[in-house]
Amino acid sequence: MGSRMREITREEVRAAVDRARSVALPADREILHLLPQEFILDDTGGIHDPIGMVGTRLEVNLHLSTCSGGAAQSVVTCANRAGLEVTDTIFEGIAAAESVLSADERELGVCVADIGASTTELAVFFEGAVAHTAVLPLGGDHFTNDLAVGLHVSTEEAEQLKLNYGNCVVTSVPSLNEVEVGSDGDAPRLVRQRFLAEILEPRARELFTMLRDNLRSGGVLEALGTGCVLTGGGSKLPGMLEHAESLLRVPARVGSPVPLSRMPGELASPEFAAVIGMLLYTHRTQVRRANEEMGLKDKLKSIFAGSI
Ligand SMILES: Nc1ncnc2c1ncn2[C@@H]1O[C@H](COP(=O)(O)OP(=O)(O)OP(=O)(O)O)[C@@H](O)[C@H]1O
Ligand SMILES: [Mg+2]
Repeated sequence: MGSRMREITREEVRAAVDRARSVALPADREILHLLPQEFILDDTGGIHDPIGMVGTRLEVNLHLSTCSGGAAQSVVTCANRAGLEVTDTIFEGIAAAESVLSADERELGVCVADIGASTTELAVFFEGAVAHTAVLPLGGDHFTNDLAVGLHVSTEEAEQLKLNYGNCVVTSVPSLNEVEVGSDGDAPRLVRQRFLAEILEPRARELFTMLRDNLRSGGVLEALGTGCVLTGGGSKLPGMLEHAESLLRVPARVGSPVPLSRMPGELASPEFAAVIGMLLYTHRTQVRRANEEMGLKDKLKSIFAGSI
């Protein structure tokens, strides 16, 4: 704002973000992330970092990621009771993106889907910024429950069957394969392995149909220039990529977290994407804050040096 031609400072960027964030939120929603998509300086859009540029009016397009205040507080209280001090909260989809996406994917457009136990978190990146976030109420445990109901076995056994023999593309399973089920009861029996896939396949189609509809209503279905990255434990079920590709009509890959130095090798697996991403995110924000503080100190130093 303002009509004077001047150099844009960090404070003005902050003020522009503050103006943009002051939208009315429904009761009990609070802001989890304020994610600038682009800055607009005197009608020139697409600016990532306006600091040091010259103009009269600065505006910003923000993506606000919100959550239920009560739910966020419960998670923090739970962590505190476990003896952990919470310094920050982060949306799982953004954390996972941090550890599995390349800079090119964020720039050209990508959807990361973190398929967890009970939910799937989405984050779409386009031109280097977050364009969309969402949570789908469907995760890996729904696949397990379907097997438990369809095969009349316990959820523990269904989970083991899913991990050992699960596939969500019926035609990928050799038609003569058989597996033993009911082994934790007194009447084990053989069923076709394809029968497991027949139970799992509709669930996978449901998940990616829901994902496609969510991206479409968020206006970002056409923004997936490089495709879709599946991560989280649920992405390890064989056949998920095929369904993602056929329903979204873009290339898909499974994203494992980039290994950190001295990280145990077994952590480089999709179910650890969000946790590793949280570490990377916290590290990056702390470095940025430290740089900003240094910048302030240098500025004060130069003011005092100038006054002597
Ligand atoms: N090899 C595998 N094949 C198929 N599914 C798997 C495999 N390994 C883990 N899963 C499934 O992944 C899910 C757990 O994923 P993950 O550990 O990412 O969840 P979470 O982050 O703890 O849960 P949430 O994000 O919902 O809080 C479970 O449903 C589990 O059955
Ligand atoms: Mg998760």
